[in-house]
Amino acid sequence: MDRLKDKVAIVTGAGTREMDERKLRGVGSATAVLFAREGARVILADIDEENAERTRAEIRAEGGEAEVVLADVSKTDECRKIVDAAIEHYGKLDILFNNVGSYGAGMVTEIDEELWDRVMDVGLKSMVFLCKYAIPEMAASGGGSVINISSIDGMRAGNSRNVPYGITKGGIITLTRLAAVHHGRENVRVNSIAPGHLHTTFVRHISEEARERRRKIAPLGTEGNAWDIAWAAVFLGSDESRWISGVVLPVDAGLFAGSPLSMVDNLDEE
Ligand SMILES: NC(=O)c1ccc[n+]([C@@H]2O[C@H](COP(=O)([O-])OP(=O)(O)OC[C@H]3O[C@@H](n4cnc5c(N)ncnc54)[C@H](O)[C@@H]3O)[C@@H](O)[C@H]2O)c1
Repeated sequence: MDRLKDKVAIVTGAGTREMDERKLRGVGSATAVLFAREGARVILADIDEENAERTRAEIRAEGGEAEVVLADVSKTDECRKIVDAAIEHYGKLDILFNNVGSYGAGMVTEIDEELWDRVMDVGLKSMVFLCKYAIPEMAASGGGSVINISSIDGMRAGNSRNVPYGITKGGIITLTRLAAVHHGRENVRVNSIAPGHLHTTFVRHISEEARERRRKIAPLGTEGNAWDIAWAAVFLGSDESRWISGVVLPVDAGLFAGSPLSMVDNLDEE
């Protein structure tokens, strides 16, 4: 229960949309709840007040500590505001869970400039500027852990034609490695999690057929959800991972272990 005792964490996109009968939830909210259960004080950064308050209510009902900061992470001054809030409320910063992503579809020949700019701002620029403001604060309090949420789509072409999204996720992996190298001597660790085909609020619009295909294709054949990422984040945020920096951790039911052809038979199972 105390794996993050005395730590202060920022979670971006920490809110969750109203949960329907499918009990879907976001990665950020599951992570914020587990961080608080493990003893961290959490800054819940989100653009949507209702979503953020939903997570705060859950944490407070369990006796945890969390504050909401309303911010749009695509705006650099609002990234600054999120980091400032951690210092104002709790006096230091130990963990940054950089989670907000923005989906953008299309092949390179189809790219729409407005969509491209938006997806880059929300999904990549946000992570760069949150690192810019957070890392000096971490260094000032003896070190810290940054966890950037990428995707298997940042490592290989995904199952939809999504050049803008894939490029944000690939950029996040590069950001992770560069910042890990540049800030290691300040005892700031920077790692990335690459989720596989999770079932979360992010993909709430997909059909049941697509959902089944996403489950079946991976070696484990089970469906992943927000909690699977949250548990990995607890490890990377805690001192248990003190000697791990610059890695990209796939949390994907084994998908990345095989070649695409080695997985095709999985789709034929009943
Ligand atoms: N579900 C998957 O299969 C999958 C796979 C790989 C990676 N991911 C990644 O997981 C991450 C989180 O997904 P999720 O399901 O929690 O997302 P989500 O779409 O449910 O969003 C979570 C929260 O982010 C907030 N948000 C949106 N735009 C914001 C902004 N500009 N500023 C601040 N807050 C904002 C929303 O209000 C919401 O409360 C994303 O980066 C996504 O790319 C998901």
